[in-house]
Amino acid sequence: MAELDRQGGEIGIPGDWTYASAPESRDIVQIAERYGHFVGGEWHEAAETYETIAPRDEEVLAGVGQGTPADVDRAVGAARAAYADGWSSLPGSERAKYLFRIARLLQERSREFAVLESLNGGKPIKESRDVDLPLAAAHFFYYAGWADKLEYAFPNRRPRSIGVAGQIIPWNFPLLMLAWKVAPALACGNTVVLKPAETTPLTALLFCDVLRQAELPAGVVNIVTGDGRTGAALVEHDDVDKIAFTGSTEVGKEIQRRLAGTGKHLTLELGGKAANIVFDDAALDQAVEGIVNGIYFNQGHVCCAGSRLFVQESIYEPLVAKLERRLETLRVGDPLDKNSDVGAINSAAQLEKIRELVASGEEEGAAIYQPPCVLPEKGYWFAPTVFTNVAQSYRIAQEEIFGPVLSVLTFRTPDEAVEKANNTPYGLSAGVWTEKGSRILWMAQRLRAGVVWANTFNRFDPSSPFGGYKESGFGREGGLHGLEPYLEFEQ
Ligand code: NAI
Ligand code: MG
Repeated sequence: MAELDRQGGEIGIPGDWTYASAPESRDIVQIAERYGHFVGGEWHEAAETYETIAPRDEEVLAGVGQGTPADVDRAVGAARAAYADGWSSLPGSERAKYLFRIARLLQERSREFAVLESLNGGKPIKESRDVDLPLAAAHFFYYAGWADKLEYAFPNRRPRSIGVAGQIIPWNFPLLMLAWKVAPALACGNTVVLKPAETTPLTALLFCDVLRQAELPAGVVNIVTGDGRTGAALVEHDDVDKIAFTGSTEVGKEIQRRLAGTGKHLTLELGGKAANIVFDDAALDQAVEGIVNGIYFNQGHVCCAGSRLFVQESIYEPLVAKLERRLETLRVGDPLDKNSDVGAINSAAQLEKIRELVASGEEEGAAIYQPPCVLPEKGYWFAPTVFTNVAQSYRIAQEEIFGPVLSVLTFRTPDEAVEKANNTPYGLSAGVWTEKGSRILWMAQRLRAGVVWANTFNRFDPSSPFGGYKESGFGREGGLHGLEPYLEFEQ
């Protein structure tokens, strides 16, 4: 940015910089025409299927099973049998071996998984390659390390496994969310029935081949595909001991209502509307990079996205000018192009939701900025968007958009920043940009959010717990804390 600043005044920024496209080959991935459900270590033909597509151009990729209550019942039965037949009594050091194997296999096959993830979900290949895959493997490595140390993790509390875990995951980080859920569950001695999101089932289905290579005992992990009806069947199944859900607050509330009084364990990781707060002493160029990463990473399909930017009034104008100029350099396009920064919107339904909320922002009186960019004609696309002149009451400042759309607001004092940042039903994450360590700590103590990043954003690590306050849910994933939801303790 500093380089562009200098050039900007003197010679102008060339408007026609071109770059050669650098498409990643999809030959490494083999997609079957039709998939069934993976139950008890075997593929079971699906009675009903639907088509899963590539959001970049709506190409049909495969037929995928729409799981019925009978499919779910068979999967839960297989998970229960595997739990009773040995998995729950296997020494932790033996369970760890399988997790280590899965982690290494994911690393070995990471290119294949990354291409498939970008094809089926629409995210840029450089993100699936550099973020999703390394982190998914890291989660298996990390929890493999805990499997034989649970007594030390929870001294004097006699931890033991819960039983069968039903896990329902979303479409924004399909394989990574699978890893977040499966790795701690297995490390603690549970077995699993997992339901991927309906728009992005393919990496979970490929993961079944990793389980085969790792020689994981049959039935320890079962995967049933389908939409919300399949998820609901899993939630309602009597023989499931725990539900772990990541997705919308609406469905999370519904699941909580259904499970009330059943005694089943529950963790919910739901939506967010994170505040990214920039003080006037922050390093502005770095802050601009953090803002861009915070909201345009994965097209903004991120529960902890920094979708509300709070800028201290004295730096509002220079910061917004830098941000808008930086947006012009983002490359929106083919997810499989290694040069793409922003890929395709995951589904037609999500695109519709983004459009509707953006229209509401314009109607309510916010000023919209979108850099000039040519969007592909086929597929689902939305240009990176910044709204200024946003009031706190506007829908775009209150509701989760889950797209590449940023709302900019201002503040004068740290107290005002805290008050405005906390003025949301959510509380998943927040960011603070300042050069003063004391101010970072002061802010972090007051922000009602599960994660507070300082002078960075969207950083993830398997050793660090992640989860929400308020309508962002409860329970933690990652770290030592992430073991607890998969364990029972003797009183
Ligand atoms: P969703 O909550 O409907 O879907 C998430 C998962 O839950 C999917 O696997 C889905 O099949 C399943 N599901 C849906 N209804 C269910 C039910 N009644 N019982 C059990 N499982 C059910 O989210 P959706 O409709 O895909 O996205 C809507 C909005 O939710 C997004 O625009 C975004 O704001 C938010 N969202 C938040 C996510 C997060 O990471 N916290 C992830 C996905 C969506
Ligand atoms: Mg839904």
